Amino acid sequence: MAVREVLTYPDQRLKQVSVPITSFDDSLQGLIQDLDDTMYGSPGCTGVAAPQIGQAVRMVLIDASRNRKPVENHGRLLLINPEVSDPQGEAIGREGCLSVPQFTGNVKRAKQIKLRALDAHGNLIEMEAVDFEARLILHEIDHLDGILFLDRVSSLKTDIFRRKNLELQTSASLLSRLT
Ligand code: NI
Repeated sequence: MAVREVLTYPDQRLKQVSVPITSFDDSLQGLIQDLDDTMYGSPGCTGVAAPQIGQAVRMVLIDASRNRKPVENHGRLLLINPEVSDPQGEAIGREGCLSVPQFTGNVKRAKQIKLRALDAHGNLIEMEAVDFEARLILHEIDHLDGILFLDRVSSLKTDIFRRKNLELQTSASLLSRLT
């Protein structure tokens, strides 16, 4: 059990494409515990991906219920080898990231998605997510493909914003500044 150090941009390990998980053994359960400790140990943090703590495997942890504003959500979700299909609609929202603590950015994403993933024991999860939770899932899956929100903004001049409050930087809550 440990809160792990989160890699920050421009660490090249954040650019790696992560590999699928095939073994649901004790070491995986330990890594899941570290994701829990790291996310829930960071105030307001709504998601973290395994590669952000230096493990290039396809696993993310989210909890959209931790968003400052109430949003439709499924609570804590541990998603292994997640796959998104049937994206519907588009919305621009403000995103932040533990790996980009000094900035937020406006990113266009689908409003609604279908999701297939495995849980901690390899059981299939199938669900739909909308709005903030859909954005959160898409943001975290991007980490598995070496993509940061910085790579998704339309313009580095007009769509990136420096966080003003140092306190906010240190407790940088993933996506918490979504507007
Ligand atoms: Ni992120």
